[in-house]
Amino acid sequence: MNNSGENKEENYNSIKYKQKFLKELLRKKNAILLAHNYQRDEIQEIADFQGDSLELSIKANKTDADIIVFCGVRFMAESAAIMNPEKTVILPNENAGCPMVDMITAQDIINLKKDYPDAPVVAYVNTSAECKAVSDICCTSANAVKVVNSLSSKRVIMVPDKNLGSYVQRFTDKEVINWPGYCPPHKRTTPEDIRVLKEKYPGAVFVAHPESSPETIDAADHVSSTSGMYKFVRESSAKFFIIGTERGIMYKMKKENPDKVFIPSNNGLVCPNMKKTHLDDVINSLAQMKNIIKIPEDVRIKARKSIENMLAL
Ligand code: 13P
Ligand code: SF4
Repeated sequence: MNNSGENKEENYNSIKYKQKFLKELLRKKNAILLAHNYQRDEIQEIADFQGDSLELSIKANKTDADIIVFCGVRFMAESAAIMNPEKTVILPNENAGCPMVDMITAQDIINLKKDYPDAPVVAYVNTSAECKAVSDICCTSANAVKVVNSLSSKRVIMVPDKNLGSYVQRFTDKEVINWPGYCPPHKRTTPEDIRVLKEKYPGAVFVAHPESSPETIDAADHVSSTSGMYKFVRESSAKFFIIGTERGIMYKMKKENPDKVFIPSNNGLVCPNMKKTHLDDVINSLAQMKNIIKIPEDVRIKARKSIENMLAL
């Protein structure tokens, strides 16, 4: 075996060793490992539960574990902590944030409410706990249309993702008032990317996330949350799929559909924050009980109401 072959084998063995060590640590501490669909392959591989933002919030609510190790980005771990004050929630890499979350503040929402007093605020889960605390109800990409249509007002404020807001506008008679936030990785896929790829792979089906731009959504054959994409791909008879979301999603897609071919819609569609969490971070944070999410109680109680309103649907 040459050097690079030996290195590969060494890396593989070290990943397997760390996974085994972590599994044992989780068991000893009565901890559960939750992973978002964009996480690194080696983390998805050993997660107790993997899912989209909505599924992960539901799972975090139902677990009997004492500790929730949340492999995702900060707002997701915060949602788990908001709902489970009696549990310890760990975000293994404390720098794993979401730029979209930082595109709006609680004060911005308070100002919007003054401008549109008749419109309830629907906060995408990709918001800080403080923003959730001043909103009326949360939503995820999987239930945004349902949440908006469940409200009795004639117009709604949707924050912070303008693309999710304009996607929802296609399925509701209500007026959607948008905030100009967006997801930088999803912004990178353009209709031109899809045109070029469809020419190269005739018959390929383009699957997009609602965080994509309206022009990219127009070019899509199917639009859904990340877990909705797994289901669509599983049930479709097509062979080639152009995947318009973070490439971490392709790990499970390939595993579940070995005969199908998955093509990234754009090589830049990688979320650097979702990739910040490594096995070492997970082991160290759990072993040392560090990077525990803490939310001021007054904020937590108000933010909880917005998440509960969503989960009640
Ligand atoms: P979903 O997993 O809910 O589709 O969300 C994608 C995302 O970008 C989370 O930040
Ligand atoms: Fe935020 Fe976009 Fe990354 Fe999701 S994919 S965590 S919205 S930057």
